[in-house]
Amino acid sequence: MALRITVIGTGYLGATHAAAMAELGFEVLGLDVVPEKIETLSAGRVPMYEPGLEELLAKHVAGIEGSSGRLRFTTSWEEVAEFGDVHFVCVNTPQKHGEYACDMSFVDAAFGSLAPLLTRPALVVGKSTVPVGSAARLARLLDEEAPGEVELAWNPEFLREGFAVGDTLHPDRIVVGVASERAEKVLREVYATPIAEGSPFVVTDFPTAELVKTSANSFLATKISFINAMAEVCEAADGDVVKLAEAIGHDERIGSKFLRAGIGFGGGCLPKDIRAFMARAGELGADQALTFLREVDSINMRRRGHMVELAREAVGGTSFLGKRVAVLGATFKPDSDDVRDSPALNVAGQIHLQGGQVTVHDPKGIENARRLFPTLAYAETALETVRGADVVLHLTEWREYRELDPAELGGVVSHRIVLDGRNALDPAKWREAGWTFRAMGRPRA
Ligand code: UGA
Repeated sequence: MALRITVIGTGYLGATHAAAMAELGFEVLGLDVVPEKIETLSAGRVPMYEPGLEELLAKHVAGIEGSSGRLRFTTSWEEVAEFGDVHFVCVNTPQKHGEYACDMSFVDAAFGSLAPLLTRPALVVGKSTVPVGSAARLARLLDEEAPGEVELAWNPEFLREGFAVGDTLHPDRIVVGVASERAEKVLREVYATPIAEGSPFVVTDFPTAELVKTSANSFLATKISFINAMAEVCEAADGDVVKLAEAIGHDERIGSKFLRAGIGFGGGCLPKDIRAFMARAGELGADQALTFLREVDSINMRRRGHMVELAREAVGGTSFLGKRVAVLGATFKPDSDDVRDSPALNVAGQIHLQGGQVTVHDPKGIENARRLFPTLAYAETALETVRGADVVLHLTEWREYRELDPAELGGVVSHRIVLDGRNALDPAKWREAGWTFRAMGRPRA
């Protein structure tokens, strides 16, 4: 009989994983402790913006006309424990308040709720990003709370927001930390389709699987901070970081991806993951190995401050008081409505706190941005946002902004000054329309 799968936690990761598992042909039961989320998902709607996810849900959620009916949602732990052969734990692991370390309370609560209810053979698979050593601890907990044929595996997730569906259905690698051949066999069955399509399947022990995830995100963060450090040097030397990135990216050992200089990385993953990694390495006595991540973090945070300074310079060099600042973009990256640790909102907030009159636009993130920064002004369209602006800041590289007509915008602003914080706009197009165009790490015209 086909494996029955449960997915615990239905955020970006869990909701996508649940829908993807149904798409792969499994019967799936998703659980969340927030009843409103379960209501929304059961109606085939997604509580966040993720391209393609709503279509995939509608294709499988039970009760929706024409669906496969393979996907259901619940708030009942008993139902989940009874239903599943494989339980995927997909809850989030945010940064602890006031420290670098990872807050494991949601993972611990999930295992604490599930374990005592497991009365039949099951594989519990952790997908959350956790400090190395967590899987070994949770395996011991399962041994104590659910003795018998209950086992743990660790299977980190590498999906990117905005591409979550594609990344989950066609992963560029599947990594499983297992303690037995049986666990490996079960996971090979779960991922039979992507494995058959050619996704590499890497089998490791628990600590290596946990470390693969944190080291992958650390590498990505380091790559971004590297190019942003080069942007700082380019600014000092009148070089062009965009050309520099293109040129070094042709070296296959370096590669051209993740070399876009700008206001840096944000979101719910990279910033908190590198900090949690440093904190964990410290606990293990290996802190020296990761001191470079401190620099990665500080280069990244410096970029936000640098954008504020460029904006100050653009409005006269002293103060933001009485100045109108238009901000295009609120999310931490395009094709997402996620504003967690968003560099764009951080810059907007800093300028607002310094007395600037900031108006923000975003194609999908306004609702979340308003919740986080209710005192900022928000506009419905890019054109409305820039009306009367002394400076326009391009801070999240949505396609919509690349397609703006600089001449049209130029007709409604107070001053034609645009600062590109993502190196995504075409300088020639804006300059031709009479704008002063500045970008991070690029020469002034
Ligand atoms: C990241 C990783 O890319 C995923 O592989 C991982 O699974 C995920 O974290 C996670 O741990 O769950 P995500 O946070 O969705 O995914 O976003 P990224 O595409 O990595 O972008 C992160 C930030 O870096 C964004 O703010 C983006 O604007 C910035 N970035 C990215 C740059 O500033 N420059 C670049 O060249 C690329």
